Amino acid sequence: MQRILMVCLGNICRSPLAEGILRSKTEALNIDIHIDSAGTSNYHIGEHPDSRTTTNAKKHGVDVSKLKARQFSVDDFDHFDKIFVMDSFNYADVVSLSRNENDRKKVEMILNTVYPNSNMNVPDPYFGGEQGFENVFILLDKACDVIANSLLQHSKA
Ligand code: 4NP
Repeated sequence: MQRILMVCLGNICRSPLAEGILRSKTEALNIDIHIDSAGTSNYHIGEHPDSRTTTNAKKHGVDVSKLKARQFSVDDFDHFDKIFVMDSFNYADVVSLSRNENDRKKVEMILNTVYPNSNMNVPDPYFGGEQGFENVFILLDKACDVIANSLLQHSKA
């Protein structure tokens, strides 16, 4: 079974949404997978996702209300096959904790799944308005489509 970790800064906006979207897509496709999310910071440990994220996700039929924030730790390199980060700050923070090339190779900017080699960021919506949350949903929905389809191909192989 593939194990996928989604990572952002606070683990209350972008990465729990990515976790929820990918879970809903893989459940619909009957793909057996372990999905989790974490933040590089300790700012929001133990908190549920931001209410603006929960509301926006619900509008799209995705429930993230019961998820709880935790901090990324070096052990995560042992427990996950793939670590998708939301932006270049998350990338630098996670890679700085990697112990070897095998760890480092697990880390990928999530929008590179849609726009290869672009290193585009999923913009941090925390200090902005509603539209920022909708924009994040649209970007992560596209990325999770690509990830789910790729998992489906592998599960058939
Ligand atoms: P996230 O958004 O990294 O997508 O969960 C943020 C949440 C909280 C903060 C920044 C970004 N903060 O500074 O508290």
